[in-house]
Amino acid sequence: MPLFDALPRTAFDPGLWVDGKKLMGKKLAELLRHHIKEETAKTSLKPGLAVILVGADAASQIYVAGKEKAALELGFDSRIVRLPADVTQEALVSEIHRFNLDNSIHGILVQLPLPEHLNESQILQAITAEKDADGFHYLNQGKLAAGIAATLPCTPAGVALMLRELVASNGVHHADLIGRHAVVVGRSNIVGKPMAQLLLSGLNMTVTMCHSKTHNLQRFVADADVLISATGVRGVIDESQIKAGAIVIDVGMHRIDGKVTGDLNLAAIESRVSLYTPVPGGVGPMTIAMLLYNTYQNAMRAAGNTRQIA
Ligand code: GUN
Repeated sequence: MPLFDALPRTAFDPGLWVDGKKLMGKKLAELLRHHIKEETAKTSLKPGLAVILVGADAASQIYVAGKEKAALELGFDSRIVRLPADVTQEALVSEIHRFNLDNSIHGILVQLPLPEHLNESQILQAITAEKDADGFHYLNQGKLAAGIAATLPCTPAGVALMLRELVASNGVHHADLIGRHAVVVGRSNIVGKPMAQLLLSGLNMTVTMCHSKTHNLQRFVADADVLISATGVRGVIDESQIKAGAIVIDVGMHRIDGKVTGDLNLAAIESRVSLYTPVPGGVGPMTIAMLLYNTYQNAMRAAGNTRQIA
């Protein structure tokens, strides 16, 4: 199956979620969650999501609470396991095994980052590919690299869905992205690398990956038709270099003096770019919606139903 068969087959009117130049992920995520709820209601399934949270990281607690709230609103079963920061590798893996064997659970997620003493890759790989809610299992990562449908990492899948909705739309917000230059800044396994694969195999873009060692980063920034900032650091990208008319996606999330901001100073680029994701309200809500979609898809597959959301 082609890669984008792994995304919901939605085609929303951009008028419902694009506000001027702002790509309102918050709105698109609402539409998507409603759609998943309707599709789930057509079945007798109750998708189940299990989230494992280790330690008391403040940001992680907020993210996990948001995931639970969204799952319950859709009528999903939601289970959260909170483990102490000094939990052993064995105890954590045995929690995962328990959920692997639980037929009422279809998606398992271990919230990252984990404390230093734990072996992250061994823990993530303990989740079966069938119950992988995050797209981090090597089988799903491999399928993505091969350009075939897989459970996709939630944040880049959410961004890819936003862009695909624009490509599929008519009217003022239509974007013609085939062959255009996408520049991804950041090479994490969670965002940067899978994002590049989705832009390449799913959207047929010409993709450049940049990172903290890239020489003369700003020349790539200046050439980007679609710029994705996933650096996790403010001030890396010089906003004045961003091309006029570019689409800018800010994956960053920083709390400064109690205020949430992205990687970029978006106010400084608003007049020049064609579209951009605000922070908050852009990429973040799409991540949670895609997590629910992955869980729903896993539940459908477990029930022997390979029908995708139409
Ligand atoms: N921490 C920050 N982003 C993510 C994510 O997408 N998945 C998991 N499991 N943890 C995260």
